[in-house]
Amino acid sequence: MTKKINYKLTKLIKYYSLINYNLVYDNLAINRYKNSTFYKQGSKEEELKKLKNLIKNIKNCDLKKNAKNLVFADGDSNSKIMIIGEGPGANEDKEGYPFVGRAGQLLDKMLLAINLDRKNVYITNVVNYRPPENRKPSEEEIKRYLPYLVKHIEIISPKILILLGSTALNTIIGDKEVISKARGKWTQKKIGKCLTSIIASFHPAFLMRQPDQKKMAWIDLKMIKKKISELKIKIEN
Ligand code: URA
Repeated sequence: MTKKINYKLTKLIKYYSLINYNLVYDNLAINRYKNSTFYKQGSKEEELKKLKNLIKNIKNCDLKKNAKNLVFADGDSNSKIMIIGEGPGANEDKEGYPFVGRAGQLLDKMLLAINLDRKNVYITNVVNYRPPENRKPSEEEIKRYLPYLVKHIEIISPKILILLGSTALNTIIGDKEVISKARGKWTQKKIGKCLTSIIASFHPAFLMRQPDQKKMAWIDLKMIKKKISELKIKIEN
């Protein structure tokens, strides 16, 4: 069924480019195709599918060799809020989704504290396969996965990008940054083609080890809540 729809969609897209539909339809009062959310959504889903396949086909990668599953993303691909963690742990590796273990449960609670659900955001990681023994991904591994992460951000095109922990911070903002100093500040940055407002905060796994830092994470969460309202980002409950 999905195959059939994809085939039809591909044909339709080819047909539109063949007739140069922008030129043909631009002068019409109603342009049904241009405003069609189905058409737009389809292309975003297609892009994500392509990206997922590219990552699935990575060759000679020790992370991939040692992992059970690819951990691509979770949440709403149309969300304007994107969260980036470090890398999958054992639970994530088993289930194939990011932040489903203990750190994920804390993340869910943190989101709930500002009236967000994981269905309202889009979540991924710096690397998409579990580093053995839950170690941090190496520089080389991060570099290898960075082009995929940049593409991922471009496809989702978030207005708010939340970096959880030092690995995400150093990957996106720069390796000189220290999470305790860089957290709780907004930066505007272009990632690939996507200009977005970025904030870093403590990783939930760190907060489980250092619960006294939760008060700082709460400050960051309140800043995120304020930004959502300033940017008029709609949250569907
Ligand atoms: N920690 C992360 O950084 N990502 C996950 O998906 C789970 C735990």
